[in-house]
Amino acid sequence: MQNFIFQNPTKLIFGKGQIEQLKQEVPQYGKRVLLVYGGGSIKRNGLYDEVMNILKEVEAEVFELSGVEPNPRLSTVRKGVEICKNEQIDFLLAVGGGSVIDCTKAVAAGAKYDGDPWDFITKKTTVTEALPFGTVLTLAATGSEMNSGSVITNWETKEKYGWGSPVTFPQFSILDPTYTLTVPKAHTIYGIVDMMSHVFEQYFHHTPNTPLQDRMCEAVLKTVIEAAPKLVNDLENYELRETILYSGTIALNGFLQMGVRGDWATHNIEHAVSAVYDIPHGGGLAILFPNWMKHVLDENVGRFKQLAIRVFDVEPTGKSDRDVALEGIDKLREFWSSIGAPSRLADYGIGDEHLELMADKAMAFGEFGNFKKLNREDVLAIYRASL
Ligand code: NZQ
Ligand code: ZN
Repeated sequence: MQNFIFQNPTKLIFGKGQIEQLKQEVPQYGKRVLLVYGGGSIKRNGLYDEVMNILKEVEAEVFELSGVEPNPRLSTVRKGVEICKNEQIDFLLAVGGGSVIDCTKAVAAGAKYDGDPWDFITKKTTVTEALPFGTVLTLAATGSEMNSGSVITNWETKEKYGWGSPVTFPQFSILDPTYTLTVPKAHTIYGIVDMMSHVFEQYFHHTPNTPLQDRMCEAVLKTVIEAAPKLVNDLENYELRETILYSGTIALNGFLQMGVRGDWATHNIEHAVSAVYDIPHGGGLAILFPNWMKHVLDENVGRFKQLAIRVFDVEPTGKSDRDVALEGIDKLREFWSSIGAPSRLADYGIGDEHLELMADKAMAFGEFGNFKKLNREDVLAIYRASL
């Protein structure tokens, strides 16, 4: 293992009816609250009214930033920062999926920063302060509810980057599976692919002696693989939603990366695709991840073999390690296809027109990936295999 320090300050409030906890949590941070939400799903399913009633009960003065886009945009972040600065906001409450939470993180940091938020999103500078914020999560996918990361798109320049800071952990996150019952099938599938991909990003490393980390990753994957096919055919099943919601948080709240150095190349490659084409993040990952796996397989066939046997139940007898590993990757592709995830860029109408442009975006900060350092040719090869 590598040396590590682990600290995650987010208070996780999980389960049915836990929205009531807002009454205790919000008043701790002040009266002037900026409510941040997306395109209207929380109005349709009644959560907006529930939250507003509670905020009224605690006598909060509520301001709103609505219409946060999936793949949240810098323009919306700027709008939120302006509200915070003009209205002396004390606290932000994000109610939505990863996009709403990521936008909230950037607004919270931007409110305490003198320049343009794009400076810290592109890592030209680092933030040292942010307004406090909490979340009510409505979609199981990103883990943003219990991590400090945020991914923002500059639609004008077609750039999408992840950034984060120790000051951008939520103060608390309320996770009631009830609020995820209305997530449409497609976004349910994208969320499942995303959380599995987060596990893969942390599973493929070269750190020796990580038996517990490996098995924790495998446990999350096996749990999701068991629940996901049932859930996509039974979207209002509370218990399956509960399992998937908890899995998504564990997949990216830091628990799985203690003592290891994850890869994260496929996320970078995907962000370049969704920066140019605005496709859902999980859809992009479903297309790209198996192709990244095949591209880097020979860096450490043993880890792929372990995944194939332990997670995808590949029978190794009489087969070479490489064949076992490849069979595991094929089983991952089959699994994602079986729940309805896309498998080719063509599924989004993406051809080879902008491969070079996407590769440029992916290479913006130079070579990347810790399992295998990828250069421009590697990235192009993975895109071509994904057509
Ligand atoms: O905008 P509304 O109307 O709320 O609709 C949303 C949106 O259209 C809808 N939705 C959410 N909860 C719902 C619901 N519809 C019905 N019922 C509900 N309960 O779902 C759509 C997608 O929402 P979004 O928040 O975009 O999805 P997700 O949570 O997958 O977030 C994706 C974003 O997170 C970034 C991605 O790149 C992408 O921009 N990521 C953030 C990470 C992080 N902060 O740690 C890590 C990830 O790897 C990822 O990159
Ligand atoms: Zn992701």
